[in-house]
Amino acid sequence: MSAVLPSPFQPITDEQAALLGRLTDALDHSGLWWLSGYAAGLARGRTVPATALTAVANETVAAPRLTIVYGSQTGNAKHQAEALSAQIEDAGFGVRLLRADAYPLRELKDERHLVIVISTQGDGDPPDDARAFVEFISGKRAPKLPDLNYSVLALGDSSYPLFCAIGRQLDARLAELGAKRWFERGDADLDIETVATPWMAAALAAAREALKPQVPLATVTPLRPHAQTAASIYTRDRPFPAEVLANQRITGRGNHRTTSDKDVRHVELSLEGSGLKYEPGDALGVWPLNPPRLVDALLAMLQLDGDATVNHGEQTLSLREWLSSKREITRLSRPFLIQHAQRAGAAALDALLAANDTAALADLLANRQLIDLLREYPATWKADELVAALRPLVPRLYSIASSPRVVGEEAHLTVAHVEYAVDGDGDPRWGTASNFLARSDEGATVPIFIEHNERFRLPGDASRDIILIGPGTGVAPFRAFVQERAESEASGRNWLFFGNPHAHSDFLYQLEWQDALKSGALHRLDLAFSRDQPHKIYVQDRLRERGADVYDWLQSGAHLYVCGDATRMAKDVHAALLDIIASHGEKSADEANDYLNELQAQGRYARDVY
Ligand SMILES: Cc1cc2nc3c(=O)[nH]c(=O)nc-3n(C[C@H](O)[C@H](O)[C@H](O)COP(=O)(O)OP(=O)(O)OC[C@H]3O[C@@H](n4cnc5c(N)ncnc54)[C@H](O)[C@@H]3O)c2cc1C
Ligand SMILES: Cc1cc2nc3c(=O)[nH]c(=O)nc-3n(C[C@H](O)[C@H](O)[C@H](O)COP(=O)(O)O)c2cc1C
Repeated sequence: MSAVLPSPFQPITDEQAALLGRLTDALDHSGLWWLSGYAAGLARGRTVPATALTAVANETVAAPRLTIVYGSQTGNAKHQAEALSAQIEDAGFGVRLLRADAYPLRELKDERHLVIVISTQGDGDPPDDARAFVEFISGKRAPKLPDLNYSVLALGDSSYPLFCAIGRQLDARLAELGAKRWFERGDADLDIETVATPWMAAALAAAREALKPQVPLATVTPLRPHAQTAASIYTRDRPFPAEVLANQRITGRGNHRTTSDKDVRHVELSLEGSGLKYEPGDALGVWPLNPPRLVDALLAMLQLDGDATVNHGEQTLSLREWLSSKREITRLSRPFLIQHAQRAGAAALDALLAANDTAALADLLANRQLIDLLREYPATWKADELVAALRPLVPRLYSIASSPRVVGEEAHLTVAHVEYAVDGDGDPRWGTASNFLARSDEGATVPIFIEHNERFRLPGDASRDIILIGPGTGVAPFRAFVQERAESEASGRNWLFFGNPHAHSDFLYQLEWQDALKSGALHRLDLAFSRDQPHKIYVQDRLRERGADVYDWLQSGAHLYVCGDATRMAKDVHAALLDIIASHGEKSADEANDYLNELQAQGRYARDVY
């Protein structure tokens, strides 16, 4: 967004342009508005008194404006908030867009128009960047908000029992604090646009009624192109067909002793010709195709013709194409269950749904696929009704396991193939994207895009130490981090905690880590192979054992990163960290909590968990 005058009439030197670019890059919307007024004032200041400057600057900010706050773990809420911000700005209204952890909470009581775009994580938890924001609004210290108009766009996944829980919670709480629901909340499932598009139209209509247009800015052209927009034409909606350069199983597959239960792949993709750029910490999005065997099995079970043409929305495809590339068939959703129950007439399924979020319903949503549902509760579906009822297929994200400084125009992934058996059926069940990647051999192409993650970055100060906690495929981004730090000769130390079931079969990138230790690229490595001894040992146990050193490193300014399983590992690691800080820092439980929150606020405790 760095911007000013149209070239070729740029009346400033390149050096001034670079300086200005640095300044404007660091400003949010309100800062940019203020700056525009200030600069106009300065220009006029050559003819008007200096006291007028502040007034001119404030004039621009004082017009009623909309504040958009977002909380996002994997970028979806952020993208929606950015899209809304752009629409409001294009319509000529004042807007400021802030990530929840950058929102000055003391300003809440003075807000007049606020919209919140927020996802739900964990078991109904806020995204990491919105923890303090949600805690503040939900807590006792939240002010009364009689003058506030607000709306919430909640993002979630209806296969989780607590669908859109955080958005709903904020919506209810703001009403409780006396704020006025400006327009209705949207609860967006994985096909986000279905709900987000009308919700944004409502936001725009509300803005037109309540806000005054801002003075239009002069036409602007970028001083220097924004790295991302300039770099590539490939995006989530226009993915790049990346060639698979290598696809290698990195868990053991030898004799009985060295065979792993897990099939984890190291996948190398070519980005050549795409213009796509990434940094360590970013993820790669993959648009998969469903397993062809599963599509065939579904068609057979439903006695439907795969070649039959189905029109839905603006697309006409064969039923097989719909099921292969456009619809989720491995993840169930509650709305689909409701529709299926009406057809199946199965009392057991009706009872499950009526009881709402019971453990049994959660189990069904988490552990059964469409084919399991059809087997257990048979029903008749017409092709077009089935396509309309199933959710659109969405891309999956994978942490990038390489540094571009080391691998050039490639991106490496570490993919656990989701494969499991179900009772009474000889066919394995697969996860859509991990199976798609597992069966994409060298030479195949995979539609991909880059999902940037600014919250999961190496320290700007390369002399800082880093502690990396990444069991299982959680190790992926840390391969990128260690590559990057070695290549850039960062002076800070790197300490990795890795774990998996068995050392002999599941030690991902074993040789690389051993080489890194020898070369000095990695300074410490602690391993937790859970099943190599009678009692289980996990990374959180190793952390506790090394508690004194972990605390010392933190006290000396180390950055802490956690990646991998969200359901158990991330919570157990969090609890272990709290214990370490309390015992080695001689703090109470509350003080330890504050310490960790402060690390998070400083960007020194970052998590990428899934
Ligand atoms: C930011 C981010 C980074 C990620 N990085 C990585 C990474 O580096 N490596 C990686 O491998 N993954 C990573 N993931 C996870 C990845 O995005 C996918 O979620 C994962 O690969 C599964 O997707 P799928 O399409 O194969 O399975 P899906 O088709 O999405 O799921 C299949 C279904 O099977 C169910 N299921 C899965 N296992 C079992 C089981 N044992 N028993 C019964 N039911 C089961 C699931 O609940 C689901 O309903 C990341 C996720 C995020 C959000
Ligand atoms: C580990 C994990 C846990 C999640 N838990 C929930 C949940 O409890 N309820 C829900 O509605 N959605 C849940 N979701 C789905 C996300 O809210 C959904 O993918 C959303 O689009 C993510 O938006 P974001 O990228 O802005 O974070 C979860 C997703 C992940 C990866």
